[in-house]
Amino acid sequence: MPRRYLLVCRGPNCKAQGSEDLRERLRAAIAAGREASTTEPDVVVLAYTCFDRCGRGPNAVVYPDGVWYEALTTDDVEDVARHALGGKPASDLVAAVDASHAEECYRILDETIPELEADEQQRATPRRRSWWPF
Ligand code: FES
Repeated sequence: MPRRYLLVCRGPNCKAQGSEDLRERLRAAIAAGREASTTEPDVVVLAYTCFDRCGRGPNAVVYPDGVWYEALTTDDVEDVARHALGGKPASDLVAAVDASHAEECYRILDETIPELEADEQQRATPRRRSWWPF
């Protein structure tokens, strides 16, 4: 399975509606699903700046599938994680997004995902204490 991204908005409006907690719960659910899988699904959960759908948050996108979720709650974590891990989209949670808006976001995602992924790897790597001889 090609790499798939679950991008969760970390913008101020989504954050105020719980997107950070949601993102951590999604990370945990995906890690648990990955451990239970025999096919090693390649899914990365990333924080994203803002999808410009601020009144409908918390927002998340499974990419490159192009499936948008809005108004997520912690009750939705398992369904969204299952989709990100290779299942079907959680159809009752899928948001209808204007095609031109989605295409513009995908163009930006194509440019920014490598940087977001590098940030995520840095975040996930435990800090090493440096030894200073002086
Ligand atoms: S703050 Fe989440 S879409 Fe803008």
